[in-house]
Amino acid sequence: MSAEPIQGRGCSCSGGAGISRRDFLFAGALALSSIPLAALGAAAGFAPGTVLLKAAYARQRIASLSQLVTGMPLYFDYPRPDLPNLLVKLGTAAGGGLGAQRDIVAFNLRCTHMGGDLSRAFQPAQQVLGPCPRHLTSFDLTRHGLVITGSATESLPQIELELDGDTIYAVGVMGLAYGETGTGSA
Ligand code: FES
Repeated sequence: MSAEPIQGRGCSCSGGAGISRRDFLFAGALALSSIPLAALGAAAGFAPGTVLLKAAYARQRIASLSQLVTGMPLYFDYPRPDLPNLLVKLGTAAGGGLGAQRDIVAFNLRCTHMGGDLSRAFQPAQQVLGPCPRHLTSFDLTRHGLVITGSATESLPQIELELDGDTIYAVGVMGLAYGETGTGSA
């Protein structure tokens, strides 16, 4: 069975084959690697063998595990000072989730449709980011930022996290933030 593509900015998500021209350009600029979704934790609904493309950036400390409170997001910029993101302990297992419950995730806060500001759109009861204030897209934070409803067609870029002792680090981005070209400029 062939894998179904995932909609995602900067993603070529069909088992590693058939990378688009855009992704080749992106790969040349940012040293992409592919990650099997199965290795990222719970991600129900994706086809077997599906992969995400990840851009690696410098590791950056973003929070302490012990300071996180379920449903209370923290905000940080990564991989540049003008790229805002949210870090949150969802309280339910999520694709790519960190920690004992695999429920700690981080996502970029630029809507993938037209760059709407999602910084006030987190819905803790639903584990959703949205609706976007511009055209009402909502994204599922338990499933790698997939679009639930609205005008966007691409998933929200997910920040790859690592845990070292009590410290949470950002180490890469799965996808491209809205407006990013893959060459380090917006
Ligand atoms: S900018 Fe977010 S839905 Fe259009």
